[in-house]
Amino acid sequence: MRPFSTAFTKPMLPGYQAGVMKYTYKGIRCLKSPVDLAIYMRLLWDLKPRLILEIGSHSGGSALLFADLCDMLGLEAQVISIDLEMPTGVQHPRLRFLHGDVMALDAVLDAAGLDGLPHPWFVTEDSAHSYQGCMAALEVFAARMRTGDVLAMEDGVLDDLGLSARYDGGPNRALTEFLVNRPDTFAVATDLCDMFGTNATYNPNGYLRKL
Ligand SMILES: C[S@@+](CC[C@H](N)C(=O)[O-])C[C@H]1O[C@@H](n2cnc3c(N)ncnc32)[C@H](O)[C@@H]1O
Repeated sequence: MRPFSTAFTKPMLPGYQAGVMKYTYKGIRCLKSPVDLAIYMRLLWDLKPRLILEIGSHSGGSALLFADLCDMLGLEAQVISIDLEMPTGVQHPRLRFLHGDVMALDAVLDAAGLDGLPHPWFVTEDSAHSYQGCMAALEVFAARMRTGDVLAMEDGVLDDLGLSARYDGGPNRALTEFLVNRPDTFAVATDLCDMFGTNATYNPNGYLRKL
């Protein structure tokens, strides 16, 4: 497994992170790293997903941005965003917010009829960031995604921010264990992780293609 350290340097990361946490889209909080926004835009065009599924809606800004990007790029995708608490006041014809827990995803995905929705899928796991939550999402999507679908496991940068102990090892621990134990399930999409330099992303080794 290659290292998870990002290309972001110690002097620049605190200021970059402060900007991510304050960022808004159309006035709605959208907690995305600008480098990853660029990676997502490229990914959406190349993959042309029919479904964008976000776990972790927060204020709804990222889901609204995904929906607007689909309009802009002429994609047929619908956008579903799942959280313990649904945002209010964010609306778009393509966008549905659903109530759900990353630790019990099967229930909400079954209720949404997920397995009947057309592929390719772009799934972004941006919820609890705990080791347990990330593992739960990897297990569920390993069973439901198809070859070529893409999953972004967000925020492995927590290691570089010195925060991953709070998350019991967080995304990077989950990714390491999962990819080592189940090497035939996902491949790290290094073309995406390394688009702007080796792991110059908030999601180091976190863009995965389903095998
Ligand atoms: C980092 S924020 C999501 C940011 C959003 N995707 C964006 O880019 O603006 C994390 C969200 O995950 C939600 N969350 C935390 N634990 C969760 C869980 N167990 N299941 C589902 N969502 C959870 C929180 O309520 C919070 O809104």
